[in-house]
Amino acid sequence: MLFKSSSSEGKICSSDLASPEFGLILFLVLGFSICEQGMNSELQTKEYKWLFWVLLMLTFACLTKKSKAADSYLIDCGSSTNTTVGSRVFVADKYHSKLLSTPQEIFANTSSKSILNSPLYQTARIFTGKSTYTLSISQTGRHFIRLYFFPFVYETYNMSTAIFTVLAQEFALLSGFTPQNSPIMKEYSVNVTSNTLVITITPSSYSFAFLNALEVVSVPNSLIIDDANLVNNAGSYGGLTQEALELVARVNMGGPLVNYENDTLWRTWVPDDSFLLNKNSAVNVSNIAAVNYGSGLATTYSAPASVYGTAKEMNSADDPALNFNVTWEFDVDPGYQYLVRFHYCDIVSNASNELYFDVYINSWIASKDLDLSTLTNNVLATAVFVDVVTSSITASNLRVSIGPSDVNSAYPNAILNGLEIMKINNSVGSLDGAVPVAPGTSSKSKSGVIIGATVGGVCAVVLAGILCFFCGRRRKRLSSQGHSKTWTPLSLNGGTSYMSGSKFSIAGTASTGANLEYRIPVSAVQEATSNFDESLVIGIGGFGKVYKGVLNDGTKVAVKRGNPRSQQGLSEFHTEIEMLSQFRHRHLVSLIGYCDEKNEMILVYEYMENGTLKNHLYGLGLPSLSWKQRLEICIGAARGLHYLHTGYAKAVIHRDVKSANILLDENLMAKVADFGLSKTGPEIDQTHVSTAVKGSFGYLDPEYFRRQQLTEKSDVYSFGVVLFEVLCARPVIDPTLPREMVNLAEWAMKWQKRGQIEQIMDPNLAGKIKPESLRKFGETAEKCLADFGVDRPSMGDVLWNLEYALQLQEAVLLDDPDENSSNLIGQLSPQLNNFRQDDLDVSSMQFESGNVDDLSGASMNKVFSQLMKSEGR
Ligand SMILES: *[C@@H]1O[C@H](CO)[C@@H](O)[C@H](O)[C@H]1NC(C)=O
Ligand SMILES: *[C@@H]1O[C@H](CO)[C@@H](O)[C@H](O)[C@H]1NC(C)=O
Ligand SMILES: *[C@@H]1O[C@H](CO)[C@@H](O)[C@H](O)[C@H]1NC(C)=O
Repeated sequence: MLFKSSSSEGKICSSDLASPEFGLILFLVLGFSICEQGMNSELQTKEYKWLFWVLLMLTFACLTKKSKAADSYLIDCGSSTNTTVGSRVFVADKYHSKLLSTPQEIFANTSSKSILNSPLYQTARIFTGKSTYTLSISQTGRHFIRLYFFPFVYETYNMSTAIFTVLAQEFALLSGFTPQNSPIMKEYSVNVTSNTLVITITPSSYSFAFLNALEVVSVPNSLIIDDANLVNNAGSYGGLTQEALELVARVNMGGPLVNYENDTLWRTWVPDDSFLLNKNSAVNVSNIAAVNYGSGLATTYSAPASVYGTAKEMNSADDPALNFNVTWEFDVDPGYQYLVRFHYCDIVSNASNELYFDVYINSWIASKDLDLSTLTNNVLATAVFVDVVTSSITASNLRVSIGPSDVNSAYPNAILNGLEIMKINNSVGSLDGAVPVAPGTSSKSKSGVIIGATVGGVCAVVLAGILCFFCGRRRKRLSSQGHSKTWTPLSLNGGTSYMSGSKFSIAGTASTGANLEYRIPVSAVQEATSNFDESLVIGIGGFGKVYKGVLNDGTKVAVKRGNPRSQQGLSEFHTEIEMLSQFRHRHLVSLIGYCDEKNEMILVYEYMENGTLKNHLYGLGLPSLSWKQRLEICIGAARGLHYLHTGYAKAVIHRDVKSANILLDENLMAKVADFGLSKTGPEIDQTHVSTAVKGSFGYLDPEYFRRQQLTEKSDVYSFGVVLFEVLCARPVIDPTLPREMVNLAEWAMKWQKRGQIEQIMDPNLAGKIKPESLRKFGETAEKCLADFGVDRPSMGDVLWNLEYALQLQEAVLLDDPDENSSNLIGQLSPQLNNFRQDDLDVSSMQFESGNVDDLSGASMNKVFSQLMKSEGR
């Protein structure tokens, strides 16, 4: 009897129910049996000895259970060899095939090693249908789930067009997701409540999914505590331990990058400078040695000493009269609540200067008259953190500010040592959109879900009935009680948030609401596209599908229909409407209207007969463009960008300049498109906009990538890549080529610097470009690709140089072909220089929208009247 029970209990011990408490019971049984044995010494049989040892082992196993290794799954997807990152080994995918159920095994790899910051991104697994990772969990509780993405082209799979959903347990981590064209690691933290964690990856219909690496690791449960303060002192927010969180930002204030190798939980803490709105408002302070953990809430798991030991301090210059905020700004998705964790460690105070300060999130109060000494039992330099949960965010950015408190009369100061911003799942358990797909990994759990849903549904109906009854009777009493935690999914799409503003009166602000006069009913769009007939699809992008259509007045249009579930798409949708309804220009694609009814995100543009510049360069076998046509297209696109940069007091940065975003009308006139990622540029007193890196790989300004600081010069860089693309007629990233040729920008610069760019240019152009024109063009592209933004020309200079290259191409034809072109340059230069300085510097002038091109066009015509054919409107 005893034997039997011990073996079955052994099983329990290894399962989830095992606990040190159970070990203790076994220990008592063991002790009791030993005592009994001593009393009845004649029972000292062989069996008894065996039982003794079994019990001893079990006790040991259960008591040591707590120190059992935490979960750690590091999977290098699509790889057939292990990959070492720092001191960790990501195990080759093939060794994990038992954990994965997937319809097809597709391992993809790219040879473009030089451009990637981690070897994990070189391989990926492609999922052509619903696939699940089933991971056994030995320590229930909070886990980090990190997903690594970098889209590249493998065989017929262009990963930048993949659209898919990722679920973990009951939470939707990603929904209708398409990765941007740059390496990205997304970190989630989820409380795993059972002894298996199921991660489900589901491609959208007609699409596929991919993953470069997957990481699931245990973290201490104490990392996320259940309660946090609500903003504006509205009480406390409970239940965080049950929620899924997505990392938005993790910042080391006033210090350098803290690498994952220096963090107990493999987190990376980035410097704060690129988020800081006014650089002069704060200074760095550092005293890492002083940091102590102990009486505060924080442990080394909260953040390493290298984070607590540095801070940004208000730059108060010992002036007691100063009163301002230090503010950082972060990109966020609207429609969610965020957990903001402020890490503090008072390394600045001394006996004479007490530190009291206020902390804000947007215009909400996060902490009022904060006195760190009360949080740390008066021990200076003690690490502590304060968790604050925001109300639902309505904008696409979140600002964190610190500033002096009124309490402090002597010396205004405020500090912040570290900051983490985490998105909280919405009411349907999703971190990405409103409606997650029901999980259900086996038929059993599926039916469970269905039964649950049915029972839940019946209960809900009954409850709703009761509620209605009471509501009807007591409407007046109840109406005053709002429920602030309820998420209202459609308020953003409902269109009510738009304000009708005068389109052009507010020069310099792109933050005005989209204009209502552009709104089109969904029925008109359905009619124009035969109810989104698949045969009318002319393109598929990250945002969704693009249809060709005809409005009932006969206007041909391109209809871009956003994936309704993508919250990321939502902010891009709004940006695009804002930008395009304010900026009208011959070389910018015009917005005809938009539609935001019924949760739709639809943009209607003028139809561009000849599609993208990219399609005319390679890939589709269209007739090769002549050099003159190419130059004219580049000039048109440059004008559009120049207008964006200078047409208003505040520059607009396109952020996604590429040949696929330059469209051609029936006369091959170029227009710049796709403003979804645009940002308004720096204010006068700032030199850059800080923002998370977005854009397309291969075109991305390396300086922007390194420092996450955006200026117009990032567009100039991307445009330089387009220029080489136009000259060489090949993709900017082509992983099928030998290593040194993969990245066009690198490859072309190598040849350009040698003065032999003709060696790699489009063979169709051979012998058709005048050497002077080619030289000018090559030099212009080279300058655009300068490492540092300050060394790159402005878009106006680029435009001027391209005009010049066109003149050189044409003028030499008019002149005696044998004549040295330096003559010609000598004749043109003074005029050109005057023109450049006086006429093209539109940024210093005040314009009404729409006139910039007229004006610059007129000047061009004046200067080049003999040489240049007028571009008819
Ligand atoms: C870790 O921190 C130490 C000292 O702060 C520094 O010397 C070292 O380079 C850091 N290592 C990494 C991998 O960041
Ligand atoms: C700091 O920011 C908060 C929130 O936006 C604002 O209420 C407060 O007036 C600001 N303080 C100063 C001195 O500008
Ligand atoms: C997050 O999801 C959990 C579980 O589905 C749910 O209980 C919780 O209310 C959600 N959080 C919010 C803020 O809606």
